[in-house]
Amino acid sequence: MHTTQHMPLAIRQMFRAFLEGVQERLYASSMPRDSDMFIVRLERFFPDFYTPLLQLYGQHPDFASQLANLGQRMVAAYVARPEALRLLDIKRQIIPDWFQHQSMLGYVCYTDRFADTLKGLSTRLDYLSELGISYLHLMPLLKTRPGPDDGGYAVQDYRAVAPALGTMRDLAELATELHARYISLCIDLVLNHTAHEHEWAQRAIAGDPKYLAYYHTFPDRTEPDAYERTLAEIFPTFAPGNFTWVPEIAGGGRWVWTTFNSYQWDLNYRNPAVFCDMADTMLFLANQGIDILRLDAVPYLWKQPGTPCRNLPEAHLLLQAFRAVMRVVAPAVIFKAEAMVPPDELVRYLGVGAATGKACELAYHNQLMVQLWSTLATQDATLMTHTLQQMPPTPPQANWITYVRNHDDIGWAVTDEHAAAVGMDGPQHRQFLNDFYSGAIPGSFARGARFQPNPATGDTRISGTTAALAGLEAALEANDPHQIDLAIQRILLLASVSLAAGGIPLIYMGDELGLPNTHTFLDAPTKAADNRWMHRPTMDWQQAAHRHDPQHPTGRIFAGLRHLIETRFDSAIFHGAASLQPLWSNNRHVFALVRHHPTGHILLLANFHPSDQTVAADVASAAGLTGPLRDLLDTTGQPLPITAGRILLPPYATMWLTSSDPPPA
Ligand code: GLC
Repeated sequence: MHTTQHMPLAIRQMFRAFLEGVQERLYASSMPRDSDMFIVRLERFFPDFYTPLLQLYGQHPDFASQLANLGQRMVAAYVARPEALRLLDIKRQIIPDWFQHQSMLGYVCYTDRFADTLKGLSTRLDYLSELGISYLHLMPLLKTRPGPDDGGYAVQDYRAVAPALGTMRDLAELATELHARYISLCIDLVLNHTAHEHEWAQRAIAGDPKYLAYYHTFPDRTEPDAYERTLAEIFPTFAPGNFTWVPEIAGGGRWVWTTFNSYQWDLNYRNPAVFCDMADTMLFLANQGIDILRLDAVPYLWKQPGTPCRNLPEAHLLLQAFRAVMRVVAPAVIFKAEAMVPPDELVRYLGVGAATGKACELAYHNQLMVQLWSTLATQDATLMTHTLQQMPPTPPQANWITYVRNHDDIGWAVTDEHAAAVGMDGPQHRQFLNDFYSGAIPGSFARGARFQPNPATGDTRISGTTAALAGLEAALEANDPHQIDLAIQRILLLASVSLAAGGIPLIYMGDELGLPNTHTFLDAPTKAADNRWMHRPTMDWQQAAHRHDPQHPTGRIFAGLRHLIETRFDSAIFHGAASLQPLWSNNRHVFALVRHHPTGHILLLANFHPSDQTVAADVASAAGLTGPLRDLLDTTGQPLPITAGRILLPPYATMWLTSSDPPPA
């Protein structure tokens, strides 16, 4: 019954051996139809994990035994998969574009900062439904080390929830509740490193050779020094360098690879046992009802001497192998790559060339986010248009995550080449952005702060909430109605581009209300050194109570956002598969982008200037829109007024233009 014709000959034999290793257990513990289903998927996806694993580990002495181990773990996870999730697997195979649908809208929050606990969260679901949320990203919630834990990214136990938030059972119950509301659940999986306190690291400290091989450790500085020559520093202020001396490791201490903080130990993916254990962890989380795994810090997974150890081809092979394993056992689950890297590198995480359709389904569009803030500061869309035009097309069967802010600092990922192409100096521009958003430039509306200034390279990044960076905080303090208006318009401008540009837009908790920076972290010894906490506020439910008040800034932001969300929800043009292309509007203050879909086209116009701007109406015909134009955001339904051949955009206004003519049948 097996249909292995599509497999290359060399792989068929390996497939048969793999199948033989698992089928007895499979049929003994699953209903015949379920077992058949597993095998159908295995036939389809075996080459997709076997081939990369062979490339990565073919020469490793444990390859064969770890492959057999992987097979056993896959079957065990499949057998344990709850019935409701198996049904979801089938549904999502029938609707494979579910995560590209225009109804997808995400909300990101810390469980404790939003609702204290996981149980508390289930009492706040009406609030999310009111916003139209269909995707909830809960910031790191697994059990972390005691003391500083990098905001939850130093995991001690991948199979336990942080006790203060609840239990694994609470998480699974929340997932069920969310599914009943058609909300999918995303959580972080930190797969690049574990906490120093993780059991594997503890065993390595005890000198167990099996677990020493789970990490990169060195007896002296020879290799670390050689590596450092080509490595960057992520946290130069509080964790300089990439290696940490751990004196308690048996035998007199060793240097451990720690890309991030000294207590975050990088895993050694050259060891196939690490791959297997992490795949097993993913399957365990999938079986709790998680729909999207946010794979943290994926560019760093593979190390190779003489390279930056970032974005290496092997890191992509690892992701492809994880992906294919998941597709066999739990195809309802998809991956989101967290890779804050330059444009060409970024697209590879969604799968290009031979990896098309085999990589992560989702990746953060950090380029769009960076360009939004850059353009808001310069009031000039030239760099944004050029940069986004240079990006390779979005791979099919994938989607971007678009966003205005998240829990991290903003790193100005503007390449010197792109800056030079539009007559700008890269380093100078990045410095300008840091000065502007930290409020150092006179007249700047922003209230951000510098994060991790690196005196050696001159690099800095920026912390601050959307409201603080967009000027609302300063305007409210000054009690200046005109500045308040402008700040609200800026916030909605950024949201409008993020919602229309293509992808799943994420709202970062508090941005829907305009929450300001918080400074309470300064009193918490484990947080005080990390000013990213200034844009990780606690939910202000009192402020949320103003969300329906049309006079209150919060009410104005909330209503503006709701309007954008509802408009987007109604139109198939916002489906993730619609192609998108930035255009020159011939007014440097106005960003233009067109999306093409079989059901029609949409032209986004966004005025980044605080005064009225016009663009020639023929930008619409150049974008393929014919006949009278209509702005989807204009509730009057009237055709767009065009005066002397020009379209007028008020300060910071956006338009989502379509043609009133129906597209050809
Ligand atoms: C990711 C997270 C960031 C964290 C780092 C290390 O970049 O977004 O918050 O510090 O990974 O895990």
